[in-house]
Amino acid sequence: MAMQDDIAAAARRLAPATSVVVLTGAGVSRESGIPTFRDVQTGLWARYDPAQLATRGGFLRDPQLVWAWYDYRRRMVEAAEPNAGHHAIVTLARLLPAVTVVTQNVDGLHQAAGSLRVLELHGSLRRFKCLGGGHDGFTAADFAGQAETPPHCPACGDLLRPDVVWFGEMLPEEVLAEATALCGACDLLLVVGTSGVVYPAAGLPGLARRAGAYVIDVNPQRDEIAGDADLFLQGPGGEVLPALAEAVRRTLG
Ligand code: OAD
Repeated sequence: MAMQDDIAAAARRLAPATSVVVLTGAGVSRESGIPTFRDVQTGLWARYDPAQLATRGGFLRDPQLVWAWYDYRRRMVEAAEPNAGHHAIVTLARLLPAVTVVTQNVDGLHQAAGSLRVLELHGSLRRFKCLGGGHDGFTAADFAGQAETPPHCPACGDLLRPDVVWFGEMLPEEVLAEATALCGACDLLLVVGTSGVVYPAAGLPGLARRAGAYVIDVNPQRDEIAGDADLFLQGPGGEVLPALAEAVRRTLG
């Protein structure tokens, strides 16, 4: 894991920061048992390519299959528990004046851990909208009484789909605008568990750095982001982040 000296150096940067953004990817949920995107898919779904399932075309071709895949993933994340990394981010938010989580994850585990300010760039497995997009904000409880899959929109009768960003779709405009503004104005960007290959999220660390923010990257592997970061803390989020939160607490006295 990252050296104590590096953790202490990161804590000295975090302690005085008045505006912090924590940008997370699938790696932060790895220790909760959620496979990352670059992990091979396991079990039942191993023979399907996520790039085929996570598209509008894929859904239109076989709505039942794509619905079943998302239903499986939703049940997985609902059964999962936030890990020490998610909890440490909540601790940082209690210690520091303004901490916002910007996540690429669709699992809702930051909120489950108690993070209050979370911007979901890629939507959520736990929310649904109609295929036409006119009605959103539904949860599984809204279609619990329907036997058919996919269920239908309670408002317009169209098919329901998960409210996630599929390949080829735009990110939710307001969420992206807010995340971009925050990254452009923060003192410190803490990046955790992202391979940094999927844009526009992957562009946020560079944007923050050009605007003068100090960028820290936490990852067990030296990924795309690490080269651009001011400090690379090597190790799993579930170990590095609690050590970092504790070091910030000590630094603040
Ligand atoms: P990836 O699966 O691309 O990358 C996961 C990252 O987590 C890798 O850099 C791993 O080294 C790192 N990692 C693994 N275990 C970790 C741990 N215990 N702690 C910290 N990091 C760990 O996931 P994302 O970067 O999130 O987009 O992928 C970005 C986007 O690509 C996803 O949001 C998804 C996908 O296409 C959409 O669905 C729109």
